[in-house]
Amino acid sequence: MAIQIAPSILSADFANLEAEINSVANADWVHVDVMDGHFVPNMTLGLPVLERLAEVSPLPVDAHLMIENPDHWAPRYAEAGATSVTFHLEAATDPVRIARDLRALGARSSVAIKPGTPVDHVIDVLVEFDMVLVMTVEPGFGGQSFMHHTMPKVTALREAATAAGHPLRIEVDGGVTRETAPIVAEAGADMLVAGSAIFGAADRAGEVESLRRIAQEAASRASLVDRIP
Ligand code: DX5
Ligand code: ZN
Repeated sequence: MAIQIAPSILSADFANLEAEINSVANADWVHVDVMDGHFVPNMTLGLPVLERLAEVSPLPVDAHLMIENPDHWAPRYAEAGATSVTFHLEAATDPVRIARDLRALGARSSVAIKPGTPVDHVIDVLVEFDMVLVMTVEPGFGGQSFMHHTMPKVTALREAATAAGHPLRIEVDGGVTRETAPIVAEAGADMLVAGSAIFGAADRAGEVESLRRIAQEAASRASLVDRIP
């Protein structure tokens, strides 16, 4: 699968979001972090802002809901125009029901797990999801350091998806840079979120291209290794 890049607007200028998204229009998605001050110790934006962003954005919206009660709220974000809606497993009462509700609304269903959350429960119901987000930092803030110990979960997901013949996207979020992009791609991730690395770069569009190329090269190397008997 081709590597996709999703710049996180958490590191963008919140007073100029339309222009900020246009500055990374060569990416594949725009990653919008929704935080409620309860599930994570930070607050960002909610439904009305996401709805306007979806209207003006040249990129499809990848909504990352770091909020309580996704059973109620996740479908509302699909209705608001998010193409992909990711909710956290830790906050969900009935993850499969949420996934089905999202798909019924025409959105891509996606579930996220924090660094300390095992992947087994997701693997049991993998086909319900179009994507799994493996958090590579504790959710809540941009600019944190990448946690290497999360990589076996990415690989376990990739192996399970391949075994099931399921075209699963695997997203990683947190501390993704030119240094860590090859690590996540080799592990099996194919959707990379990057906030500070992209919005902090002098040439943002160039940084998107660099991350995509570096990750794609690493993914190609990894699949070459897989083919060696
Ligand atoms: C953190 C958010 C991330 C954040 C990543 O909880 O989910 O999307 O913006 O920021 P960086 O890429 O700076 O680690
Ligand atoms: Zn995020």
